[in-house]
Amino acid sequence: MKIEDIPQVLKEIEKAGLTRRVVDYRMKTATLAMDRRGTEYIVFNSNDYLGMTHEKEVLEAARRAISFGTGSGGSRLVSGATFEISDLEKELCKVKHKEGALVFNTGYMANVGVLYALSGPGDVIFSDALNHASIIDGCRMARAKVVVYPHGNMARLEELLAETPCDGERFIVTDGVFSMDGDICPLPDLVRLKRKYHARLLVDDAHALGVIGKNGGGTSDYFQEYDVDLQIGTLSKALGAEGGYVAADPLIIDYLKNRSRPFIFSTALPASIGAAALTALKLLQAYPQRFTAKVNENTTYLRNRLKESGVSVKEGETPILPIMVGDEKEGVRLAEACLKRGILLSAIRPPAVPKGTSRLRLTVTAAHTKNELDQVCQVLIEEGNHLWKQ
Ligand SMILES: Cc1ncc(COP(=O)(O)O)c(C=O)c1O
Repeated sequence: MKIEDIPQVLKEIEKAGLTRRVVDYRMKTATLAMDRRGTEYIVFNSNDYLGMTHEKEVLEAARRAISFGTGSGGSRLVSGATFEISDLEKELCKVKHKEGALVFNTGYMANVGVLYALSGPGDVIFSDALNHASIIDGCRMARAKVVVYPHGNMARLEELLAETPCDGERFIVTDGVFSMDGDICPLPDLVRLKRKYHARLLVDDAHALGVIGKNGGGTSDYFQEYDVDLQIGTLSKALGAEGGYVAADPLIIDYLKNRSRPFIFSTALPASIGAAALTALKLLQAYPQRFTAKVNENTTYLRNRLKESGVSVKEGETPILPIMVGDEKEGVRLAEACLKRGILLSAIRPPAVPKGTSRLRLTVTAAHTKNELDQVCQVLIEEGNHLWKQ
């Protein structure tokens, strides 16, 4: 593409109803945002599943640690290694049932950094069709052969594993909880296949940690199945902080410290972020009723209310509630109508989801009140009336 073609490309994006714009908000609480004019909105598009961004103990831990510097001043291997990030890695080992862990600056960087450090020419990566963009980009950068299997289709994955020649290592990579549909990967089947075909299994628990499994431990705890080679995730969703991680065998972690370029060549996260994430991780284990059980209780309440009202919410068990709309422009119209009535939720359109499956992505948190859940339900019933009647 030439730079002079950009106006035309932008016009086409606009015509298709796919333009993206940044809109600023200030979060007054975990569920209440304010725009620059001072208008307030109830937030239903955040991944702050447990409300940790505004939890008293988490804020206090971050404030204490910010006195050690607003930034880390360097990469982990040079001058940016703080106590807090290393302490967080130790706690992640416990929660993810692994002997080693490594923190990256984002979940995106964790996926890219792991996939292209560990795999290369001669290897084959088997990747679910609905995996997150950071997994897709990690696959692209890896220079390994990439085989995409239809979403959750274990029969097809098995055929592909059996028929794809591979001289090197086989990797199977999947989201634990899928970010746009909220469904959970079939972990027991994936483990069976990885054993049968001697593959390594990578699970990205970005939307699973804090949300599913005993004490919010994630997908392995949900299925009580721990034969996962690399447990990847983010600190930016249920932990209310920033950053990503991988938990694995210490040998793999040592290798990543020496070979993963996003880890090596980027300034480390500051102590305040490490302290916030570590405190959140300890809280969610100590108080399962206050966090994981609460988000699930709120989710069940809203899902049932929406279903009873005829709103086309997808079935599932996680706080990601996709409200299926189909048409891109209709999705945007509905999100705008909700915004006018003080409700913030996201219209998800291609390329994030396949064409014709545009939706509103509504996320529930432990911090939402019943009143807030009732409000979003009422607004959706009224504004999408013509859709739910069909
Ligand atoms: C499944 C999944 N993996 C990774 C990421 C990236 O994490 P981060 O936002 O920390 O970069 C996200 C979302 O942002 C995600 O949904």
